[in-house]
Amino acid sequence: MWRRDTLASRLVRFLIPEKIPCFAARLYDAIAQTAVDTYYKEVAELVVAHMSRGKLLDIGTGPGYLPISIAKRAPEITIVGIDSSRTLLRIARENAERVGLSDRVKFMEGNGNRLEFGDNSWDMVISTGSFHAWKRPIRVIDECFRVLKAGGEAWLLDPAQVITPEALKMMERGLGIIDTLAYRWGSLTSKATPPYSREEIERIVRCTAFREGQVIENGWITVKLRKTGFAGEKRRS
Ligand SMILES: C[S@@+](CC[C@H](N)C(=O)[O-])C[C@H]1O[C@@H](n2cnc3c(N)ncnc32)[C@H](O)[C@@H]1O
Repeated sequence: MWRRDTLASRLVRFLIPEKIPCFAARLYDAIAQTAVDTYYKEVAELVVAHMSRGKLLDIGTGPGYLPISIAKRAPEITIVGIDSSRTLLRIARENAERVGLSDRVKFMEGNGNRLEFGDNSWDMVISTGSFHAWKRPIRVIDECFRVLKAGGEAWLLDPAQVITPEALKMMERGLGIIDTLAYRWGSLTSKATPPYSREEIERIVRCTAFREGQVIENGWITVKLRKTGFAGEKRRS
C-alpha cells in the first residue's frame, strides 16, 4: 500500500478499472482537446528540448494529444502511444488522422504492466496523467526500466493538467446523460486515486529497478527516472 488513506478509498480503488471506460472516453477527449495549446504544447516542448530524435513510448496515451504535439515539433522522433482502452485508441487514431500525422504516430493496445517490447528498445518513455491510476506502479516502472536503452529516461507526469477554463465552461453549459455519468465517474476515481505525494513517489521509486529519481513540482508533478548503464539489484522496502 503506497497511500495512507481510508479503507473506503482502498476499496473503490480495488474495484475501479485502471482504464477509462468507454462511456467516459468522448468526454475525456473533449476536455483534453482544450489543453492542446497549453499543457500538451508545454510538455511536448520539454520533451523535444530533451530529445530531438529517437524512439519514444507514451504509456496511457488516452486521446493521443501529447504524441501528436511531439510529432508536430520533432519529425525525427518515432512515437508509439499505448493504452488499455480500445475506445480511446480509436479516438487517438482519429485525432492523428485529422492533423495528417497518422503515418508518424502509432497507437497500439497495450498495458504498462506487461509491455510487449523487447529489452533496451526505447530512448525515452513518457506518461501523463496515468501514474496515479496504476494499480501496480512498481511493476509499470520496472517495465519502463526494462524497455529503456541505457541512458534513456522515463518521465511520469501527474496529474494531467487538462481542466482548462474552456473545459470548465463546456461543463457548465450542461452535459447529456452519458457525459454526466462520465463526469461523475471521473470525480469518483480522482477522489479514490489522487496524485501521489513526493514522499509516496520516493518510496515507490526506491522499490523499482531505477532505485532513485528526481521529483519536480512545477504546477504538476514530474518524476524523472534515468536508466544508468548498470542495472543493479533491486532493493525492496
Ligand atoms: C487520465 S488519462 C491520461 C491520458 C493522456 N496521457 C493525457 O495526458 O491526456 C489516463 C490513461 O491511462 C490509461 N491507463 C491506465 N492504466 C493503464 C495501464 N496500466 N496501461 C495502459 N494504459 C493505462 C487509461 O485508459 C487512460 O487512457
